[in-house]
Parts: sequence; C-alpha cells; structure tokens
Amino acid sequence: MIRDIQDEILRLKKEYNICILAHSYQAAEIIEVADITGDSYKLSVEAAKVQNRNILMCGVHFMAETAKMLSPDKRVFLAHKDAGCPMAEQMEPEMIQALKDKEPDRKVVCYINTTAALKTVCDVCVTSSSALKIVKNMEAQKILFIPDINLGTFVKDACPDKDVMLLNGGCPVHAAITEAEVEEAKKAHPNALLLVHPECRPAVTRQADYAGSTSGIMEYAAKSDAKEFIIGTEVSIREHLQYKYPEKRFYDLSKRLICQNMKATTLMDVYNTVKAIGGDKAYEAAEIEMDDELIAKAKVCIDEMIRLGG
Ligand code: 13P
Ligand code: SF4
Repeated sequence: MIRDIQDEILRLKKEYNICILAHSYQAAEIIEVADITGDSYKLSVEAAKVQNRNILMCGVHFMAETAKMLSPDKRVFLAHKDAGCPMAEQMEPEMIQALKDKEPDRKVVCYINTTAALKTVCDVCVTSSSALKIVKNMEAQKILFIPDINLGTFVKDACPDKDVMLLNGGCPVHAAITEAEVEEAKKAHPNALLLVHPECRPAVTRQADYAGSTSGIMEYAAKSDAKEFIIGTEVSIREHLQYKYPEKRFYDLSKRLICQNMKATTLMDVYNTVKAIGGDKAYEAAEIEMDDELIAKAKVCIDEMIRLGG
C-alpha cells in the first residue's frame, strides 16, 4: 500500500539523516513525505539552510545541481536519475560567452532552469518568482535574458526602461499552449480567473488575471475570493489546489500541460533512493557529483540571485 511505503520513507529518512525536497509539480504522495516543498526559488533558498547530511531532490536535474552548489558539503541525490528539464539544455556556454565578448556591458540573466555549465558564464540567476524583482534591482541597463523567451518577454514588458535582449529558448510544455485553448477554456468557464505560469507565450500570459510561479499561482488561488480558476501550468498544480481547497473549482487550461520529466519521479524512486543512501546494495541512487571549480564558478550567479531577490 502507498501508505506503508510512505511510512517506511518517513522512518528511513530520519534514520539516515535525509532531508527530502520536492518541487510543487511532484505527485501528492511524494509531497506528503517531503520536508520542504515549493517553487524553484523556495527550494534553492531552503537547500542552502539544510542541516541534514543528505539531500534528496524530487524534481529535475538542475534543481538537484542547484542544491549541491548551495550545500556542497552534503551528499545530494536526484530521486529519478533521468529527470531533466529540456529547457536547461537549450544553450551552450560558448555561445553566450561569444555574445558577452561582443557586448561586455550587457549583463547576462539566466533562468534557474539552466545547467551549471551555462551558469558559469552568467551574472545573475532568476526564478519565475524572483525575475521581475531581480531585473528591476539590477544596476545594469542592458540585459541578455536566457534561455526562456516567454519569461524574458514577461520581464521585458514589466521593465520598459531596460534594454532586454532575448534568445529563442523556452519550455516545450508551457510554450505549446495556444490562444485558442485560452478562448476555449474561458468559454467553458466564464466565471473563472485565469492563472498562468510566465513560461507560457505572451499571447496567453497577457490574457491572464495573474501570472507567476507555481507557488505564486497556489498562493493567489488560496487568497482570492473567487470560486473558480483555470490553471495554466503543469496539471499537478490544479490537482494539489483541488485537494487543498475542495470548496473551490479548478480547471486545466489544457490537458497538454504535462511535464513528463516532472512526472518521471515516483514514490518508489524516493523509497529506492532512501534505501540506497542507507547503504542497502540492492538499491541504486543518483548522486550529484560536481567538481569544486564548477561549483565555485556557477554558484556566483545563484548567490547574486539570493542577494538581489531576498
Ligand atoms: P517555478 O519556479 O515556478 O517552480 O517553475 C519551475 C518550472 O520548471 C516551471 O515549469
Ligand atoms: Fe522544464 Fe517545462 Fe518541465 Fe518546467 S515544465 S521542468 S520548464 S520542461
């Protein structure tokens, strides 16, 4: 039974001194056994404060990598070894370095959904919840925002005084959502507010009542007096909201809002990893290994994110 597995995870994580972090997109049965849950920003800030010897990240690879950079003396594990974010792999450091060489006064702002290697050539990192605040707080006027053109446009629209250059990257899940799907959802639920993630295309985001991070969407729905909401991000958020607030109604903006990478992690992956951390050779764990030089170079922009976004 799921509950027996959850109880065993809860027992073993204490015994083996493991802190479980779970991104908001994870399944409910994983969120239930986690010590810390939230959006990418919260997970990064909390990862730096963890006291346990081991960190187990339920999410995608860049999140575990970020946790390792913030807690390099801890052992950090990714619950599902192949869970990656395709957007994080879209740009190469050499290409960004070449652009920097051409225009040294343009500061590079990277979304946290990037590899550590790419972060080494960036000046500051942002998440969807901190991007606006950080770009506004930056002294630089000229910015290159990578890799997400949609989050970048959201930032550019809100900072008309800055010269924001964008490249053509983004989240294949959110960027696939069309205006026609917005029209259809609004027609089906005329009294519902539309809450979307800024990884959606501007044509979608501009029609929303609220655009923000996964945690931002959940907080907005919690505080709002409205009774119905169309949720424009991974369908897990609609599921969590419906369980939390049964008196309200939540609808998917599109049934296509499914991130296979976030869905890859199962409760059994968490169980298997916890067993492996405890030394049971019958189980395998995906440990994050990074050399000190890479951590030192890539961490600069994460520290800058926490300084400017805090
Ligand atoms: P958040 O920063 O909103 O948690 O988003 C992470 C993500 O991957 C969204 O697709
Ligand atoms: Fe990456 Fe998009 Fe999945 Fe988020 S939803 S992890 S940005 S692919």
